[in-house]
Amino acid sequence: MTAQIDHALEEIRRFRPSPEFAAQAVADESLYRRAAEDRLGFWAEQARELIQWETPFTEVLDWTNPPFARWFGDGRLNVAANCLDRHVDAGYGDRVAIHWEGEPGDSRSITYAQLTDEVKRAANVLAGLGIGQGDRVAIYLPMIPEAVVAMLAVARLGAIHSVVFGGFSADSLASRIDDAEAKLVITADGGYRKGKVFPLKPVVDDALDRATGGSVQNVLVVQRGGNEVGWTEGRDQWWHDTVATASAEHTAEAFDAENPLFILYTSGTTGKPKGILHTSGGYLTQAAFTHKNVFDLHPETDVYWCTADVGWITGHSYVVYGPLANGATQVLYEGTPDSPHPGRWWEIVEKYRVSILYTAPTAIRSFMKLGRQIPHEFNLRSLRVLGSVGEPINPEAWIWYRHVIGGGSIPVVDTWWQTETGAIMISALPGVTDLKPGSAQVPVPGISVDILDDDGKPVGGEDGGLLVITEPWPSMLRGIWGDPERFKETYWEKFGDKYFAGDGARRDEDGDIWLLGRVDDVMNVSGHRLSTAEIESSLVAHPWTAEAAVVGAADETTGQAVVAFVILKASQADRVTDVAEASEELRRHVATQIGAIARPRQVFIVNELPKTRSGKIMRRLLRDLAEGRQVGDTTTLADTSVMTAITEQVR
Ligand code: PRX
Repeated sequence: MTAQIDHALEEIRRFRPSPEFAAQAVADESLYRRAAEDRLGFWAEQARELIQWETPFTEVLDWTNPPFARWFGDGRLNVAANCLDRHVDAGYGDRVAIHWEGEPGDSRSITYAQLTDEVKRAANVLAGLGIGQGDRVAIYLPMIPEAVVAMLAVARLGAIHSVVFGGFSADSLASRIDDAEAKLVITADGGYRKGKVFPLKPVVDDALDRATGGSVQNVLVVQRGGNEVGWTEGRDQWWHDTVATASAEHTAEAFDAENPLFILYTSGTTGKPKGILHTSGGYLTQAAFTHKNVFDLHPETDVYWCTADVGWITGHSYVVYGPLANGATQVLYEGTPDSPHPGRWWEIVEKYRVSILYTAPTAIRSFMKLGRQIPHEFNLRSLRVLGSVGEPINPEAWIWYRHVIGGGSIPVVDTWWQTETGAIMISALPGVTDLKPGSAQVPVPGISVDILDDDGKPVGGEDGGLLVITEPWPSMLRGIWGDPERFKETYWEKFGDKYFAGDGARRDEDGDIWLLGRVDDVMNVSGHRLSTAEIESSLVAHPWTAEAAVVGAADETTGQAVVAFVILKASQADRVTDVAEASEELRRHVATQIGAIARPRQVFIVNELPKTRSGKIMRRLLRDLAEGRQVGDTTTLADTSVMTAITEQVR
């Protein structure tokens, strides 16, 4: 009966594109047809149409040494010039590239011509600091235009950026600087968040004290927060002293299509974040292709806004590279959605007449909680396409997004992809696909996926299985920085030549794909990836902790929340008398060690952890407890009474 009702609901909740939308859409069915008949030919056409090549490629894909792919291998291009100079050369220099909105309400609109000049100046400064092809530059900035300028200036020189989210701690920044052996750090004094200035330069100073590699020679500092900062003469330089006065003449050199573009660290199943490596030609092709077709971009008239921070992959592909390669006009916002008032985002949509909005389910759910009266105070009629990313969007949030934000009739696209995939892999195409709330739906043209069981056999019917990508794709990661073995092991060992994504998925009777969450020890909190192992090792590093286990527990707003179970050292028992205080101290400790996003929602102090006879922690049982469920089967525990004891301590 329930199944029938669910089925009926699914039947009802399907939305045909309106004929008016379909008639003007940039995508149509022919993309699927063309990609199905000649996948590589299709990508070659996209690469030629969307990208300007200094030397055209003759080879599309080299997959002779899997899993190390080469796309458009003999082509040469400059990624930054593709995002800037060519639009100016084509006569669009006066088009606004970025409408920037600072949190305190200051704003700047920057045209493609101005952005190009600024990037050329910055490139000259970076070159003067000895940055050249292949050098690594760490970027630790708030959401200000200089973040985009810095990334493109690095790219223009054929160097490699490693953007570190401004919310990460000094420790996290230090380990990323060391791992990539960055020569230069670009930061700001501070940025605005929730009405306050948060310091960045002091964190960089702290990180450089902790970094053991000694690779950093210079720190370039943008003035934004006006907060006081320490200064190391000879090492530190102000952006406004150097970039503003530099020459705006800079000729972009072409680099190989496989020249590394950036490293972006993401959490895996171990305690150490992985430096995901992306290269140039294939990455830019798929970022531009998906940005154009998934969001139905009309660059002459649309105002696009992706709310992601440039510290995440969404910010790389859909704030910087995709939109700028496509010559889009976009909004960049520095602050939080509720500063200084809960309608801030909608005020920005109204102010800039935003037509395409791309955000995360967690944000949508927080707005749902606040109620529709807040967005309804603003004119949101400019919106015509809505996008979602980062975690499954529950049908209720999807419907709310479409109705309350979108006015009831505009397409909502749920886009599935990862830091590793570089660009969108599964999504509806607005104007083409019938939309189904809750499902990410179908692979984008040119992408092949499957759902397999543990033995690699395709899973039929509605059974869930493991999501794999069966053919190499242009924006795929090219490796893990400095660790080719880990790259092979993590993604390719399980199914041979198929990429193992780490997500569970199922296909419904229409062939639409539903994502079921991670199948490994990776959590998804507010669309951000966190590793249980990384948080556990942070907890264990605290002098009070003997043992720790971390689980991701379902959370109404953030999708999942970090919940930790900690055993304190017997030697500390006298010192730690107040359990509430101890758990608060440990929460704070994780936030300081990793960053505020990793702060556990709860830390439970317990006497024991549930373990199997071989000593493996049974996280499944802890998750039951954290989610307030009846604890499941405990028969494989070495000591079955343990869960009763823990439950008593927790409740
Ligand atoms: O579990 C999937 C989830 O986010 C993971 C990738 O995280 P990250 O590399 O940080 O990139 C996030 C932004 C692309 C995936 O393995 N995920 C991402 N988008 C979706 C999703 N899960 C369900 N539906 C989505 N649309």
